[in-house]
Parts: sequence; C-alpha cells; structure tokens
Amino acid sequence: MTSQAPTNDRFLRALRRQPVDRTPVWLMRQAGRYLPEYRATRAQAGSFLNLAKNPELACEVTLQPLRRFPLDAAILFSDILTVPDAMGLGLYFADGEGPKFERPIRSADDIARLAVPDMETELRYVMDAVRTIRRELNNSVPLIGFSGSPWTLACYMIEGGGSDNYSKVKSLALNDPAAMHQLLGVVTDAVIEYLKAQHLAGAQALQVFDTWGGVLSPAMYREFSLRYLQRIAAELPRGEAEDRAPLILFGKGNDPYLEELATSGAEAVGVDWTIGLGEAARRIDARVALQGNLDPVTLYATPEAIRNEVRIALDDYRDGNAGSREGHVFNLGHGMSPDMNPDHVGVLVQAVHELSAR
Ligand code: CP3
Repeated sequence: MTSQAPTNDRFLRALRRQPVDRTPVWLMRQAGRYLPEYRATRAQAGSFLNLAKNPELACEVTLQPLRRFPLDAAILFSDILTVPDAMGLGLYFADGEGPKFERPIRSADDIARLAVPDMETELRYVMDAVRTIRRELNNSVPLIGFSGSPWTLACYMIEGGGSDNYSKVKSLALNDPAAMHQLLGVVTDAVIEYLKAQHLAGAQALQVFDTWGGVLSPAMYREFSLRYLQRIAAELPRGEAEDRAPLILFGKGNDPYLEELATSGAEAVGVDWTIGLGEAARRIDARVALQGNLDPVTLYATPEAIRNEVRIALDDYRDGNAGSREGHVFNLGHGMSPDMNPDHVGVLVQAVHELSAR
C-alpha cells in the first residue's frame, strides 16, 4: 500500500534530505478546535473519543485542514493515549480538564498485568482510520502516523492524567527503577507494534511525541526516555529504500540531546522553539532531517510578524546547514491552540512556500 509515491512528496523527500522545490510544512495539531468545521464534526460525534474511535469521522477531521491550506502532509487524527487505553487503563476526558485514566498504574501488580494490546482488534479503529484516510487522500500528500514516547505515555499512565510536577512518575523512577524499566519496556514493545501496524495500514511517515522528556534531569532523561527512543529507532520495522517510512523523534526541551537523537537511527528530529534552527542544524551535521520550530504563539501575531518569523527560521536553518535549505520540514515547536485564527495558518503556510522557493 505504501509503495505508491504521493503526488506531493516534498515532505518525504525533505525527510530523506533530498532536494525539493520548496520547504514542506505541516503543523502539529493542524486538525482541531481552532477550525469551526472540526467543532461541528466533534459536536456530531458527541465527544472527542467518539470522534477518534469512528474511522469515517476521524478521516473527515484529518482532511479538514488540507481543504483550507496547501499543507504538505496529513496527520492521522487520533491521540497518543489510545495505547494505554487499549492496555486497560480506561481513558476518559473530564470536561475542561484534559485526559484522565480510570485505572492509573499504582503498584507493581498493575505493572505486571500490562500486556501489548492486539493492534488489529483492540486498536482496530486506529488502523481503520489510517486505511480510510489513505483511500480518501488518494496519494495527494503523505500521511503521518504517530505514537507517544514510552516516557510520555508512562507520565499519563502513572499520574493518571496531566501533572504540574510529575511527582508520581518521577518517584517511581527514583524509588524503584526496576519497576519503571519494566513498565517502559512493555510500553516500548506496544509503541513499536503500534507504529508498525500504522505503517502496514498505510502511514508513510511516523512521529514519536516525547512531550514530557524535557521535564527530566539529563541523567534521568538518558535512562528513562532516550534509551527507549533509541530502542524504537533501532527496532521499528518501517520498510526499505524509497518505501521506508521515515521516523521523526519530536521532543519538547530535547535540545541538550540533539547529537544523541541524531545518531539514534531515526530519520529526523523535531525540536521546539527554545533552540535556533541554525544551531540545531550545525549540531546534527546533516546526519538527519530537522523539523520545526516556530513558537506556536507566533500565530497570534500579525500576518507581517508571522512572515518575518518564518523568514528568520528558514534562513537560520539554511545558514546552519551549509547554505542549503534541504533536510528541513517546517512546523511549529509544539501544537496549535483552540483560540488561534485559521487565517493566520494560511499566512504561515503561504509564507513558508514563498520564502523557501528554490
Ligand atoms: O496533530 C494533529 O492534528 C493530530 C491529532 C493529535 C491529537 N492529539 C488530537 C487531540 C495528536 C498528534 C495528539 C497527540 C497528543 N495527545 C499529545 C502529544 C502531542 C503534544 O501536544 O504534546 C499529548 C500529550 C496528548 C494528550 C492529550 N490529548 C491532551 C493533553 C489533550 C487535551 C488537549 C486540550 O487542549 O484539551 C488531548 C485531547 C486532544 N487530542 C484534542 C485533540 C484535537 C482536543 C480534544 C477536543 O476536541 O476536545
């Protein structure tokens, strides 16, 4: 299924560091509440989870931003917490409070009971969404599949939801590192199976979101997050040559570890806006592609300011990448927010394409 190249293959070519006519761009959380058509489909579904679990509706909201903007990739509409949900933790969304688990991990027994879910039964709805989206995209642009990183999933599984200081998950890592590694091991097995199944269902690139790796000290990051990202990069089967689905490792606050991420075996690293793209490009030294990294808050600024920031980011990357724009995928440094103006997204996408034309 993945063997047919998309008509617009800028994104995949940039991830392979091949020449392209313009820098490709997509945005984390490009489908979501800032779009009135998303809010309408979500209202029809009744809840976010009903939306994510219905392949036809998940496909519809995946395509919505692509109908408005000439984005260079689609991203599966789903959530990183589908995996722990399928492991039996009971995902739900309390109004205005973000994600929560009915049965968070509380004991060694809870960890011992964890097993890798079956991808074509317990997570069938995700694979069906991937297949439906591929069919509807009709090879116009590539489809990105994704997963949370083992550490980031462990944060939600142990905290039971979002957290201010990650005290529960860090306490487990400090007090009982063997138990923490046991949990991270089975979650990593699940992440590898999950990404592999999305690739087999049709996803042409794969991104791991290590949203909370940056809350760790360097020693703990290397032990509890990086090690498992490296395992995924080394072990994930993702095809060969032109059919290979590139793997993007995105992390908030991952800039101290760029060299280690660039030699992990992944094809690309995604960074947030707290590092300049020029410095990041110099440090990864053309070993992988780089994705990022406009501060999402830039989208609240005026169109002139947005264009200016896009130009700065594009040129900074080129200056750090030996004068070449190749190997850059433009994105935000983190996801979009519900109160952003869709027109400003249009300004951003157009600015990337215009200002990067070769
Ligand atoms: O990028 C995309 O367009 C694809 C869709 C996507 C969603 N979640 C949809 C979603 C992706 C890639 C995710 C990943 C995700 N989910 C992450 C990692 C990326 C990141 O932002 O760091 C994390 C940490 C989660 C966990 C999660 N899911 C949170 C914290 C929330 C609440 C967000 C909020 O602002 O309320 C969700 C729910 C969620 N996932 C929404 C969307 C569009 C909002 C749900 C709604 O419609 O109410």
